Amino acid sequence: MKLFGNWSYPTAIRFGAGRIKELPDACKAAGITKPLLVTDRGLAALPITTAALDLLEAAGLGRAMFSDVDPNPNEGNLAEGLKVWHDGGYDGVIAFGGGSGLDLGKVLAFMSGQTRPVWDYEDVGDWWTRADPAGIAPIVAVPTTAGTGSEVGRAGVLTNSETHEKKIIFHPKMLPAQVICDPELTVGMPRAITAGTGLDAFAHCVEAFCSPHYHPMSQGIALEGMRLVKDYLPRAYADGTDIEARAHMMSAAAMGATAFQKGLGAIHALSHPIGAVHHTHHGTTNAVCMPAVLRFNRPAIEGVLGTAAAYLGIDGGYEGFCAYVDRLNAELGIPGNLHGLGVRDPDIDALTRSALADPSVGGNPVEMTYDNTRALLEACL
Ligand SMILES: [Fe+2]
Repeated sequence: MKLFGNWSYPTAIRFGAGRIKELPDACKAAGITKPLLVTDRGLAALPITTAALDLLEAAGLGRAMFSDVDPNPNEGNLAEGLKVWHDGGYDGVIAFGGGSGLDLGKVLAFMSGQTRPVWDYEDVGDWWTRADPAGIAPIVAVPTTAGTGSEVGRAGVLTNSETHEKKIIFHPKMLPAQVICDPELTVGMPRAITAGTGLDAFAHCVEAFCSPHYHPMSQGIALEGMRLVKDYLPRAYADGTDIEARAHMMSAAAMGATAFQKGLGAIHALSHPIGAVHHTHHGTTNAVCMPAVLRFNRPAIEGVLGTAAAYLGIDGGYEGFCAYVDRLNAELGIPGNLHGLGVRDPDIDALTRSALADPSVGGNPVEMTYDNTRALLEACL
């Protein structure tokens, strides 16, 4: 089977090894003549980034880059990026990277023509209608990891550097107009990042699948996304140059983010504040929290995870699924608790309150209260 295709769901996706070569075409299709490539500091000097800039330059699109982006992008990174944007007179963003580069690039494109402070566009009620849609620059998204799926999402996560809260900035027009999913861009990922990002995709699929909201399209996507992770993440982890495994993981990432329109849950509600305060890797934090959350949600998900287990070829229904997750975490070198991830002296009360304020809470199949969320957090520690 050739892992190659042009998809228009949920947006225009050029999928296949080597398709980064189409970056100038993708810019043209998105109506961009002077792009600003936004990525993070770690990626800025890597050969894949230089090669992308070379492609742009050869096509007469310049080689402008903004890379002063933290692992958890904040409003300071955004302000600096917007200054570069306005000084340079760009007309579109290439959001390039893992979650940091993709999210900051998308939020920058969104904010390029807005007049209110970014926090006014948090994903609360209909706040997104405050934005001027004409002030949103077109976006080409190029993921270099396989996890966040932000390339097919309509939001970006921005950390408030004063309150250490991760806020979701949302607008339907933040969905990138063009996406290039080229699995060759992910072969250089270190093993720990392959594991962490891949398990973020898995968490998106699992939480979407278990969310009680009605969204049968997402349900199917989440289930097949889980299967791709189960079959191909161990292969990508064992051999980073396995392009077939990398390709299927890239699909799983886009599928997880497509599916979580149905909702996320306690894994992400816990992981967001832990990551914002303790600077832990997002996907790895999710993986550490998943076993305790599956136990926590048991009364509501026993049946649904039994269905997933049957599809995935896992014996033993709900219990078999939980045992599989424990084995997968162990195989991929995931610590058994948050202490093992480097979380020291956590303020459990503050983390509990932040978790309960996270928008992911609404998708959890068991109602989260102060007492049960605090106990869940302690179980993860
Ligand atoms: Fe996530």
